[in-house]
Amino acid sequence: MSTHINAPEGAIADKILLPGDPLRAKFIAENFLENPVCYNEVRGMLGFTGTYKGVKVSVQGTGMGQPSLSIYVHELFDCYGVQKAIRVGTCGAVSEDVELRDVILANGACTDSSLQNQRFGGLHYAPVPDFELLYTAFNKAKEMNLKTVVGQCVSSDRFYDDNENWKLWKKYGAKGIEMESAELYTLAAEFNRKALTILTVSDHILKGTATTAEERQTTFKDMMKLALETIIA
Ligand code: HPA
Repeated sequence: MSTHINAPEGAIADKILLPGDPLRAKFIAENFLENPVCYNEVRGMLGFTGTYKGVKVSVQGTGMGQPSLSIYVHELFDCYGVQKAIRVGTCGAVSEDVELRDVILANGACTDSSLQNQRFGGLHYAPVPDFELLYTAFNKAKEMNLKTVVGQCVSSDRFYDDNENWKLWKKYGAKGIEMESAELYTLAAEFNRKALTILTVSDHILKGTATTAEERQTTFKDMMKLALETIIA
């Protein structure tokens, strides 16, 4: 049973892009997909299906944070048979070798979330993406001349983190902080599906800088094209 996505069977493609923001899902559908149809409006968490270069692709908002993403991705995997999922999101950079607008391919997702404890107790699972999706995205990005960094992200439960845990994650090599990917990768493992996160750096935590709204729009377009080219490859 699907509680939060109200789509009939067959309305969602087996390949899906996952932005956090439902309005970004609408933007992707309207700007990149041919003949997009909205299949979900429950709680305003918009989802669309159309085609990209003739291939059926969906795009679904997930909301912010792992508990929200977990609900939507669980239903997409369990009830709608989604096979490949690519999160397209933003992150705050915590590494000197990453700049504003860079694209990060997350080859692992550390987390402070209690979701991991609930699943694994005292054991520590290592959430990683599907290698084939990662490899394809890496090569497509090269073809597109996009500056990409392959590295770990951190999926934090706190955006306003006054403990500044990012300093510890940075010490261990993390590139950027976001809030969703560890749960996406773990759910993909649970359901034996393929997942990847592609992030653009929207703000730089070390440098205290941020992209303008206009810059975000252009760089997000590059990232969306990269995600679409990767998912249909
Ligand atoms: N922290 C957490 N999530 C984020 C950030 C951040 O600085 N920037 C974009 N998503």
